[in-house]
Amino acid sequence: MISLKDRVALITGAGGGLGRSHALYLAGLGAKIVVNDPGGGVAGSGGNRAPADETVALVRQAGGEAVADYSGVETMEGASRMTAAALEAFGRLDIVVNNAGILRDASFKKQTDDDWRRVLDVHLTGSRNVVKAAWDHLCGRKYGRIVMTSSASGLYGNFGQTNYGAAKLGAIGFLNSLKEEGERYGIKVNAVAPMARSRMTESILPAELLGKLDPRFVSPVVAYLASEDCAVNGQCWAVGGGYVARVAIVEAKGLRLPADESFDAETVAANLETITDLGKARPLANLMDASAKILR
Ligand code: NAI
Repeated sequence: MISLKDRVALITGAGGGLGRSHALYLAGLGAKIVVNDPGGGVAGSGGNRAPADETVALVRQAGGEAVADYSGVETMEGASRMTAAALEAFGRLDIVVNNAGILRDASFKKQTDDDWRRVLDVHLTGSRNVVKAAWDHLCGRKYGRIVMTSSASGLYGNFGQTNYGAAKLGAIGFLNSLKEEGERYGIKVNAVAPMARSRMTESILPAELLGKLDPRFVSPVVAYLASEDCAVNGQCWAVGGGYVARVAIVEAKGLRLPADESFDAETVAANLETITDLGKARPLANLMDASAKILR
């Protein structure tokens, strides 16, 4: 049985959508929850305590324990308040779910510097801030589970989302190195790339699809990755509507050419097929693994 009994989870952006669903699901497995959400619109404007308060009320109605925090993840002060809220209310912190997010979609031609900066600030720097604020505590207790939220937009690309895509793939770059640092402290860091109905997607996806994409079908995966039983570290899983699959950056088997004067642009052009053939591609564990493949 996967249980989160006595675990304390901080879930950012848990005032609605996926974050609220994660809060309810993790609480259902016994976790005590810090429901973080400053409220506000999809683009990050305004603020409102009601979303976080409502999630807390729903968790409590279902018999769980939760407290609210209304800070923004984009400042270190905000992130520190969230972790302090966990310690104050529950005396510890075991799980961080970086879920907070905003959208500032625009074609690259029309994207303003502010659109770029604010999306990076919330998704990438925000996730980093929350982990940073929790890190010493997690290392000190030699246990932690961190779940990042990536997106198909970052993994594969989407028109009008260079800011969001960069931030969401940045989350994977962040976890790739953090997994190396957390291992010795019993900290595992993984990511989900979800697809679900929320205010972010309800104007983008067709209604019949949205009906099949309840956020509830993402939360069990987050709960697994947040549990002691989690058997993976440094992975990203695509999740939605009952579908779950590992996503990986892979490197082709590649081609080894003599490292001498014969190595020129013409040889590259002539070997395009072999260089780009992903038939025997595999994921690489880390920089050492990647270097070994080149140097072998
Ligand atoms: P949502 O808009 O319902 O949830 C995002 C939450 O983050 C909101 O409650 C918002 O108030 C909160 N938030 C915004 N700025 C914040 C800040 N500075 N600090 C703390 N919280 C803040 O949308 P949804 O869909 O539930 O998104 C959750 C996460 O999943 C986001 O990171 C999003 O990018 C990601 N995602 C969602 C997909 C989907 O299909 N719904 C697809 C891929 C990724």
